[in-house]
Amino acid sequence: MNAATKVTAGRPPAPSSDKRWRLVEAAMRRNGYKRNGLIETLHAVQASFGYVDEVALRFVSQSLRVPLSAAYGVVTFYHFFTLKPPGKHTCVVCTGTACYIRNASKLLEEFSRQAGVREGETSADGVVSLLTARCVGSCGVAPVAVVDGEVLPKVTAGRLKELVDGWRHES
Ligand code: FES
Repeated sequence: MNAATKVTAGRPPAPSSDKRWRLVEAAMRRNGYKRNGLIETLHAVQASFGYVDEVALRFVSQSLRVPLSAAYGVVTFYHFFTLKPPGKHTCVVCTGTACYIRNASKLLEEFSRQAGVREGETSADGVVSLLTARCVGSCGVAPVAVVDGEVLPKVTAGRLKELVDGWRHES
Protein backbone atom coordinates (compact mmCIF):
# COMPACT_ATOMS: atom_id res chain seq x y z
CA MET A 1 0.00 0.00 0.00
CA ASN A 2 1.55 3.30 -0.97
CA ALA A 3 1.11 6.62 0.76
CA ALA A 4 -1.57 7.71 -1.68
CA THR A 5 -3.87 4.85 -0.74
CA LYS A 6 -3.16 4.77 2.97
CA VAL A 7 -6.20 5.50 5.11
CA THR A 8 -5.29 7.54 8.17
CA ALA A 9 -7.50 7.80 11.25
CA GLY A 10 -10.69 7.25 9.31
CA ARG A 11 -9.80 9.87 6.73
CA PRO A 12 -10.24 9.03 3.07
CA PRO A 13 -7.22 8.30 0.89
CA ALA A 14 -6.10 10.90 -1.64
CA PRO A 15 -8.08 10.51 -4.87
CA SER A 16 -4.95 9.54 -6.83
CA SER A 17 -1.19 9.28 -6.49
CA ASP A 18 -0.78 12.76 -8.02
CA LYS A 19 1.79 14.52 -5.83
CA ARG A 20 -0.31 17.68 -5.74
CA TRP A 21 -2.60 16.00 -3.21
CA ARG A 22 0.29 16.17 -0.76
CA LEU A 23 0.07 19.96 -0.85
CA VAL A 24 -3.64 19.69 -0.14
CA GLU A 25 -3.07 17.25 2.71
CA ALA A 26 -0.38 19.52 4.14
CA ALA A 27 -2.92 22.37 4.28
CA MET A 28 -5.38 20.16 6.16
CA ARG A 29 -2.69 18.94 8.52
CA ARG A 30 -1.60 22.51 9.28
CA ASN A 31 -5.11 23.13 10.57
CA GLY A 32 -5.30 19.86 12.49
CA TYR A 33 -7.96 18.58 10.05
CA LYS A 34 -10.36 21.07 11.61
CA ARG A 35 -13.39 22.37 9.78
CA ASN A 36 -12.23 25.92 9.92
CA GLY A 37 -9.38 24.95 7.60
CA LEU A 38 -11.90 24.46 4.78
CA ILE A 39 -11.18 27.66 2.85
CA GLU A 40 -7.42 27.34 3.21
CA THR A 41 -7.61 23.74 2.01
CA LEU A 42 -9.71 24.65 -0.99
CA HIS A 43 -7.18 27.39 -1.74
CA ALA A 44 -4.50 24.69 -1.73
CA VAL A 45 -6.55 22.64 -4.21
CA GLN A 46 -7.05 25.66 -6.46
CA ALA A 47 -3.38 26.64 -6.28
CA SER A 48 -2.16 23.10 -6.96
CA PHE A 49 -4.55 21.99 -9.68
CA GLY A 50 -5.83 25.27 -11.07
CA TYR A 51 -9.45 24.42 -10.29
CA VAL A 52 -11.58 22.63 -7.72
CA ASP A 53 -13.65 19.81 -9.18
CA GLU A 54 -16.14 17.47 -7.60
CA VAL A 55 -13.51 14.84 -6.80
CA ALA A 56 -11.54 17.41 -4.81
CA LEU A 57 -14.64 18.75 -3.10
CA ARG A 58 -15.65 15.27 -1.97
CA PHE A 59 -12.17 14.47 -0.74
CA VAL A 60 -11.82 17.71 1.22
CA SER A 61 -15.31 17.57 2.69
CA GLN A 62 -14.85 13.96 3.83
CA SER A 63 -11.38 14.66 5.23
CA LEU A 64 -12.56 17.68 7.22
CA ARG A 65 -15.97 16.17 7.98
CA VAL A 66 -17.91 19.05 6.54
CA PRO A 67 -21.01 18.62 4.38
CA LEU A 68 -20.30 18.55 0.66
CA SER A 69 -22.78 21.40 0.28
CA ALA A 70 -20.63 23.59 2.53
CA ALA A 71 -17.59 22.97 0.33
CA TYR A 72 -19.65 23.77 -2.77
CA GLY A 73 -20.91 26.88 -1.01
CA VAL A 74 -17.37 28.16 -0.55
CA VAL A 75 -16.18 27.60 -4.12
CA THR A 76 -19.28 29.10 -5.66
CA PHE A 77 -19.28 32.12 -3.36
CA TYR A 78 -15.68 33.27 -3.84
CA HIS A 79 -14.63 34.38 -7.32
CA PHE A 80 -11.14 33.10 -6.66
CA PHE A 81 -12.26 29.51 -7.16
CA THR A 82 -13.11 27.87 -10.42
CA LEU A 83 -14.91 24.57 -10.92
CA LYS A 84 -13.88 24.30 -14.53
CA PRO A 85 -10.86 22.40 -15.75
CA PRO A 86 -8.20 24.89 -16.76
CA GLY A 87 -5.92 24.93 -19.78
CA LYS A 88 -3.69 21.96 -20.56
CA HIS A 89 -1.07 23.35 -18.17
CA THR A 90 -1.36 25.49 -15.07
CA CYS A 91 1.07 28.10 -13.87
CA VAL A 92 0.53 29.50 -10.39
CA VAL A 93 2.71 32.51 -9.58
CA CYS A 94 3.09 33.07 -5.85
CA THR A 95 2.40 36.64 -4.78
CA GLY A 96 2.83 36.09 -1.04
CA THR A 97 5.03 38.46 0.96
CA ALA A 98 8.37 36.70 0.45
CA CYS A 99 7.77 36.40 -3.28
CA TYR A 100 6.35 39.88 -3.52
CA ILE A 101 9.51 41.46 -2.15
CA ARG A 102 11.43 39.51 -4.74
CA ASN A 103 9.51 41.10 -7.57
CA ALA A 104 6.76 38.54 -8.05
CA SER A 105 4.33 41.16 -9.30
CA LYS A 106 6.73 42.30 -12.03
CA LEU A 107 7.38 38.68 -12.93
CA LEU A 108 3.65 38.06 -13.16
CA GLU A 109 3.09 41.11 -15.32
CA GLU A 110 5.95 40.28 -17.68
CA PHE A 111 5.01 36.65 -18.04
CA SER A 112 1.36 37.54 -18.59
CA ARG A 113 2.30 39.93 -21.40
CA GLN A 114 4.86 37.63 -23.02
CA ALA A 115 2.73 34.50 -22.89
CA GLY A 116 -0.52 36.24 -23.80
CA VAL A 117 -2.51 35.06 -20.82
CA ARG A 118 -4.16 37.18 -18.17
CA GLU A 119 -4.12 36.44 -14.46
CA GLY A 120 -7.01 34.18 -13.52
CA GLU A 121 -7.58 33.18 -17.14
CA THR A 122 -6.64 30.56 -19.70
CA SER A 123 -4.81 31.50 -22.90
CA ALA A 124 -6.95 31.63 -26.04
CA ASP A 125 -5.28 28.46 -27.35
CA GLY A 126 -6.12 26.60 -24.12
CA VAL A 127 -2.45 25.79 -23.45
CA VAL A 128 -1.96 27.52 -20.11
CA SER A 129 -3.97 28.90 -17.22
CA LEU A 130 -2.33 31.61 -15.14
CA LEU A 131 -3.22 31.76 -11.47
CA THR A 132 -1.82 33.33 -8.35
CA ALA A 133 -1.53 32.15 -4.75
CA ARG A 134 -0.68 33.98 -1.57
CA CYS A 135 2.00 31.58 -0.36
CA VAL A 136 2.86 28.11 -1.55
CA GLY A 137 5.13 27.36 1.38
CA SER A 138 8.51 27.71 -0.36
CA CYS A 139 9.40 31.22 0.78
CA GLY A 140 13.12 30.37 1.14
CA VAL A 141 13.48 30.07 -2.63
CA ALA A 142 11.30 33.04 -3.64
CA PRO A 143 10.13 34.03 -6.15
CA VAL A 144 8.28 30.82 -6.77
CA ALA A 145 5.83 29.46 -9.32
CA VAL A 146 4.04 26.12 -9.26
CA VAL A 147 3.88 24.71 -12.75
CA ASP A 148 1.69 21.64 -13.20
CA GLY A 149 2.14 20.94 -9.51
CA GLU A 150 5.92 21.30 -9.49
CA VAL A 151 7.51 24.09 -7.48
CA LEU A 152 9.98 26.14 -9.52
CA PRO A 153 12.38 28.01 -7.23
CA LYS A 154 13.86 31.44 -8.02
CA VAL A 155 11.84 31.56 -11.16
CA THR A 156 11.94 34.26 -13.84
CA ALA A 157 9.37 35.39 -16.38
CA GLY A 158 11.75 34.20 -19.11
CA ARG A 159 11.89 30.69 -17.67
CA LEU A 160 8.11 30.49 -17.53
CA LYS A 161 7.81 31.80 -21.07
CA GLU A 162 10.26 29.11 -22.27
CA LEU A 163 8.03 26.44 -20.77
CA VAL A 164 4.94 27.86 -22.43
CA ASP A 165 6.73 28.10 -25.78
CA GLY A 166 7.70 24.43 -25.42
CA TRP A 167 4.09 23.43 -24.73
CA ARG A 168 2.90 25.44 -27.69
CA HIS A 169 5.30 23.60 -29.98
CA GLU A 170 4.02 20.25 -28.69
CA SER A 171 0.40 21.04 -29.45
S1 FES B 1 5.44 33.88 -0.22
FE1 FES B 1 5.81 32.79 -2.03
S2 FES B 1 6.31 30.84 -1.30
FE2 FES B 1 5.80 31.91 0.50
